[in-house]
Amino acid sequence: MIGTDVATVRPAARLRGELRLPGDKSISHRALILATLARGESSIAEAGDGDDVRSTAAIMRALGATVDRTGSDGRTVDYRVLSPGADGLAQPDGVLDCGNSGTSLRLIAGMLAGLPMSCVLDGDDSLRRRPVARIIEPLRSMGAVLHGRRGDSLPPLTVVGHTPLRAVDYTTPVPSAQVKSAILLAGLRAEGRTTVREAIATRDHTERMLRARGVPVERSDGPGGNVAWTVEGGVTVQAISERVPGDPSAAAFWLVGASIHPDAELVLRGVGVNPTRRAVIDILRSMGADIEEHPSPAAGAARAGAEGGVGEPIADLVVRSSSLRAIDLSPAQVAGAIDEIPVLCLAAARAKGTTTIRGAGELRHKESDRIAGIVGGLGSLGVRIEVDGDDVRVHGDTTLRGDAADSQDDHRLAMTLAIAGLTASGTTTITRPGSAAVSYPGFFDDLERVRA
Ligand code: S3P
Repeated sequence: MIGTDVATVRPAARLRGELRLPGDKSISHRALILATLARGESSIAEAGDGDDVRSTAAIMRALGATVDRTGSDGRTVDYRVLSPGADGLAQPDGVLDCGNSGTSLRLIAGMLAGLPMSCVLDGDDSLRRRPVARIIEPLRSMGAVLHGRRGDSLPPLTVVGHTPLRAVDYTTPVPSAQVKSAILLAGLRAEGRTTVREAIATRDHTERMLRARGVPVERSDGPGGNVAWTVEGGVTVQAISERVPGDPSAAAFWLVGASIHPDAELVLRGVGVNPTRRAVIDILRSMGADIEEHPSPAAGAARAGAEGGVGEPIADLVVRSSSLRAIDLSPAQVAGAIDEIPVLCLAAARAKGTTTIRGAGELRHKESDRIAGIVGGLGSLGVRIEVDGDDVRVHGDTTLRGDAADSQDDHRLAMTLAIAGLTASGTTTITRPGSAAVSYPGFFDDLERVRA
């Protein structure tokens, strides 16, 4: 139950039900941005209807696209986007408000870098603590002018676009799909071929979605998991119709919740299982989770681009109670499940043995410092977690005891703590739970529904 600023969660005797999740947040942002770069009418079915995606939709309107909501069920929304295309967009009158959304900030900065206008991107207190040097540096090297606060390290971020940009060959210093995507979006407006190289492959939605819109994107695989992506500047992005799969990062809460609960069976419909997003499923399975996967026809573009292979694989998932065992996660596994690490720490707390999560430093730069948030929030419920540099050790075999736990106003921490409350003894109260709506509107309704 949500109060104004606390949610109270009591233990559930059993968990049953079938859930439809919000549309994937990462794909929804990209669909709105690409629909705005394309001239004509695009339709986006079943996008996520969380606050973050709404921030991107509002910014696309401010840039001159007509973005209509044509239907919504509270978790997903259908959009019709009518755009004059990249060359017809207009200088917005005010500051572009990204709210809590780092994805909006980084991807839209890449989009604006090649447009002949100057814009300011800003957001809430949390967003103003998110690092931006990682996009300023490559976008500057392409010819755009960018400035941030505190020595160009923090938002608000001013972007003065330049047309055309210079193509670059850039190796990302941290695994980040946002940085990669910002550079690829800028690369569309550059002269020549722009290449982004990553040592650990991150989510590839931008690449798939560009191909679906007629933009060739080359992939080349190097040794040790290196991947390079190349786009050619000046190719027109085409308007298309698309359906967004259910968000695997939202599914993760139920995958963990049902796995650690003694009497649970949940069915999750239409979840995106893209190989670059499904790490949470595979990690839980190797911990002993009972997750069935029934593939359904791929979601994604209604019209495939020249290179094919653009659909997003989706599946219905069935998850049941299980006995979990500890795991040792590598930095590459952490990058693949970066948004799911908080809830995986909950799974680890209930698993047999001690789980080690290596190379988790990027978690400090999310909507909150998620390492501190997990240590504090799960710590309040009796979980013992040690931090050693960028490595995190979660002690398992924990009996969770309900208590007050602080979400740090971070959606993924709020939902992790709420799921913990379902299996804790006594009552768990979560401060500032409203942030769940950033990615999962209706989460607390679903929490009530599955315990019924
Ligand atoms: C995202 C990439 C990840 C992820 C975020 C969404 C994206 O961020 O944490 O929630 O849609 O590209 P980073 O690129 O900062 O790792």
